[in-house]
Amino acid sequence: MSAEGPKPPSEAELAEMDRDELLKLGGQLDGVEIVEYPEPWPVKDTRAERRAQRRVAFWFALSALAGLAFVVVMAWPKWWEYKDPSDPSGHATYSLYTPALGVTLGLAVLSLGIGVILYTKKFVPHEVAVQQRSDGPSAEVDRATILAHLADAGTRNGIARRSLIKRTAGASAGALGLAVAALPIASFIKDPWKDSDNENGLWHTGWQPKFPGEKVYLRRNTGNLEEDVKKGVALVKAEDLDAGAMETVFPYRESEKGDEKALSEALMRVDNPVMLIRLRPTDAARVVKRKGQEDYNFGDYYAYTKICSHVGCPTSLYEQRTNRILCPCHQSQFDALHYAKPIFGPATRPLAQLPITVDEEGYLIAKGDFNEAIGPAFWERKS
Ligand code: FES
Repeated sequence: MSAEGPKPPSEAELAEMDRDELLKLGGQLDGVEIVEYPEPWPVKDTRAERRAQRRVAFWFALSALAGLAFVVVMAWPKWWEYKDPSDPSGHATYSLYTPALGVTLGLAVLSLGIGVILYTKKFVPHEVAVQQRSDGPSAEVDRATILAHLADAGTRNGIARRSLIKRTAGASAGALGLAVAALPIASFIKDPWKDSDNENGLWHTGWQPKFPGEKVYLRRNTGNLEEDVKKGVALVKAEDLDAGAMETVFPYRESEKGDEKALSEALMRVDNPVMLIRLRPTDAARVVKRKGQEDYNFGDYYAYTKICSHVGCPTSLYEQRTNRILCPCHQSQFDALHYAKPIFGPATRPLAQLPITVDEEGYLIAKGDFNEAIGPAFWERKS
């Protein structure tokens, strides 16, 4: 408040004053000179005013619709169920799930913002005032006058009679609030265990047999898919690897024979690559097996997932001299002689081991899927 301003009114005088008087007094007490204070729409209910009103309402309505669309996308997970890439129509829908969430929520927030800005530009009085700067806290009289000022701005912009804008703005804020509330609530009502007992669930990989007794072979990546389709894939026999060698293998099942798409997908699926290691006999004699996995190896052959237990990079490096498996991402190291348990770096869990054996023709096959989820930790995982 300016020291040279008019004398502040008494409490009784203040209570008697109407809004205009308070406005005037507030300006004087604060040393504010209002240079311009035009009514945004001096002539009421013109076509231009109604047009401006509709434009504002349009953005609020769009925001409300986008907010509701977001809630609908969240609430109907059935539409977006995972479909693998072999199902062109289903996979396309599934791949739209995240973009649909982002677009609807983004549109809701953006439209609400545009609506608010447009409303401010079109309906809030644009006064030009000059005010002297003052220090210290505001007095009661200043607070009363500023409230009068704000109330006056509310009256002048005509919000009370703009029911279209009020309704659409309310709907927009409500829908957006619903969308924001839906985010944390949805994570509590979605059942992560539902339909997870299949090869596409987090607990399983492409090594899981599709039916009891299905033989899943260890397959090489020859780099020549055409040949694989025409002449058959290259399977691995127990005598194929030299002692101390390592090879990356993928699952193969008879049903994929000659099927270019299935053969290609088996190579590309992220949880399929397995590191097949043939230990040197002297090293094999020093192996320490994990409890419950004593028969997971076949002779000197050990198969570990290539997906790092830290954050899922491919652990592609095997150092024969030390029997260490290295992950290039954050330098975790795993001991191949000690059920691939981590011995250096940020990883805290061993690499999952694939149980393997040979069939009657000498081909290496998986005895089943991994006995645990591979790769990095996730919420439902206990260890
Ligand atoms: S992902 Fe392997 S160490 Fe981080």
